Amino acid sequence: MTSGTNRQRPVVLSGVQPSGRLTIGNYLGALKNWLPLHTEYDCHYMLVDLHSISVRQAPADRLERCYEFIALYIACGLDPDRNVLFVQSHVPAHSELAWILNCYTQYGELQRMTQFKDKSARHVDNVNAGLFCYPVLMAADILLYGAHRVPVGDDQRQHLELTRTVAQRFNREHGETFVVPETMTPPVGARIMGLQNPEAKMSKSEDAETNAIYLLDEPKRVERKIKRAVTDMDGGIRFDPDTKPGVSNLMSILSACTGDSFETIARDYDGKGYGTFKQAVADAVIAVLEPIQQHYTEIRADEEGLRGVLRAGAARASERAGGTMERVHHALGFIPA
Ligand code: TYM
Repeated sequence: MTSGTNRQRPVVLSGVQPSGRLTIGNYLGALKNWLPLHTEYDCHYMLVDLHSISVRQAPADRLERCYEFIALYIACGLDPDRNVLFVQSHVPAHSELAWILNCYTQYGELQRMTQFKDKSARHVDNVNAGLFCYPVLMAADILLYGAHRVPVGDDQRQHLELTRTVAQRFNREHGETFVVPETMTPPVGARIMGLQNPEAKMSKSEDAETNAIYLLDEPKRVERKIKRAVTDMDGGIRFDPDTKPGVSNLMSILSACTGDSFETIARDYDGKGYGTFKQAVADAVIAVLEPIQQHYTEIRADEEGLRGVLRAGAARASERAGGTMERVHHALGFIPA
């Protein structure tokens, strides 16, 4: 279904979980690609604090992180006047729709989720029901706004597939209620790998310090991390993730930062050695991060201003969410309130 909302412009929705520290992977795989979408779509970007409680974190750290991430959204260039920026827990309908969708999601479907398998293996002492039902809350986030497109990195594809399955199942049983969303991933940068372990994705919460580049890393630190990134003995600059995962990952980072193709990069650095190549990658990453860092400090300092942005965002988000919940209640045969 393409309506589900009577507004004109198609809807975009995405979000980040406030855990760990935002990495260049989050930026290149998601945030950067959100920036231009407001020209074509009604864009909604969330901080998914409810998702983040599925893994333990000290409340004071979470609070700090929530402010930090929202300030970084804005510092990266997300204009609150052109995008709805909000916090998931400020719109209670997320939790309500998640419960409803739990009843339309099969146990076996959730058991197959690779992120659940990974996270439950890493947090064996806390394999809670929230961790298991996490993708259902994510489906609720998306379906609540009638999102047509969901711009994410590669690791969220499976969750998006499940969202589509659940939406289609509900629509089949109750008539067209939800928009079935499409996943949007960038051609380059959808899966940035670790610098020390290029066989696994760079992660904001699980990695050793030197495996990831954080958006707030100072330039010298960025340079040091990239210089120490794992490569190989072959010496060639070629995109071949199977045999040259480290070099291919650095090429992806460079390409996503500069817009240069892999062919151009391979040609430009042919025979120049890894030292020169790594310096170019470091320079490109620093050029991306410096303006973000310059804006960040001022934006982060104004907590009242940030809360104002979030209040306005929640009000706009609630309006759209309310319409969906009315349709869902009606579809389910609930007495109108
Ligand atoms: P999260 O917080 O793990 O990641 C936020 C976004 O960053 C992308 N990403 C990456 N992209 C490229 N390379 C990487 N190494 C990398 N690591 C992370 C993710 O794909 C994501 O787009 N469940 C989601 C948050 C969420 C959400 C939603 C997203 C909750 N509800 C609704 C979209 C729509 C998550 O934990 O993302």
